[in-house]
Amino acid sequence: MFVRRIIRLSKVDSTNEYLKRGNFEFGTVVTAKEQTAGKGRLGRTWLSDDSDNLMMSVLLKSTGIQNVWKIGFLAAASVYKTLREFGIESKIKWPNDLMVSNKKITGILVETKINESLESVIVGIGINVNMMNFGDLELKATSMKKEKSKDFDCDNILFALLKNINYYINEYLMGYKSFLDICKSNSYLIGKKISIGGRIYSYMDINDLGEIIVIDEDGKTSCYSPSEISLEDIY
Ligand code: BTN
Repeated sequence: MFVRRIIRLSKVDSTNEYLKRGNFEFGTVVTAKEQTAGKGRLGRTWLSDDSDNLMMSVLLKSTGIQNVWKIGFLAAASVYKTLREFGIESKIKWPNDLMVSNKKITGILVETKINESLESVIVGIGINVNMMNFGDLELKATSMKKEKSKDFDCDNILFALLKNINYYINEYLMGYKSFLDICKSNSYLIGKKISIGGRIYSYMDINDLGEIIVIDEDGKTSCYSPSEISLEDIY
């Protein structure tokens, strides 16, 4: 098992920041009941209330900067499998949001940390577990409890998730990438049109570099990496 240590905090600014600040060994997992400055991708914030939700980060050894996005796909596939084990069918919205009924149930934030030339990857995962009120985001966000009308135990979800991350890490180290196949075949974008930079494209696929492949109305295909674009409207 890649997990060396689990640090459980009741309150922290951000579990990702906590791992960035300290000098932890690879395989350290941090969970928090509350984040005062939870971070999302693209400078957004990650909100959660005082209901029991899963907010965790794990420190992994980097296998090269070009592979950082693969770690995000690995995490997305791990969450996909975990939700499935708890009876929830989700779709993966490139690069690594998990969606249920067109609403977001999980966000993943992958960051790198360079420390004395040792490069590590911090994978932060926020799963909406028992949250019921999303305020302004009511139409855009959901939780496991909302989908199944019952409470879930965050520890059970955490351990299932760590087991699945472990499974895909082992596979990855052996050269397999079934996590990418999971992201491709359960893509939320299949059959959808996407607006990127004000232009409309049809979604085609995800390539082995983790880039999205899209085709414009003139039949020209383009590939974009997760750091190049953010998806605007999706139809
Ligand atoms: C996103 O959807 O934009 C990514 C959200 C990632 C949220 C998780 S919660 C645990 C970890 N700590 C953070 O500050 N962010 C991630």
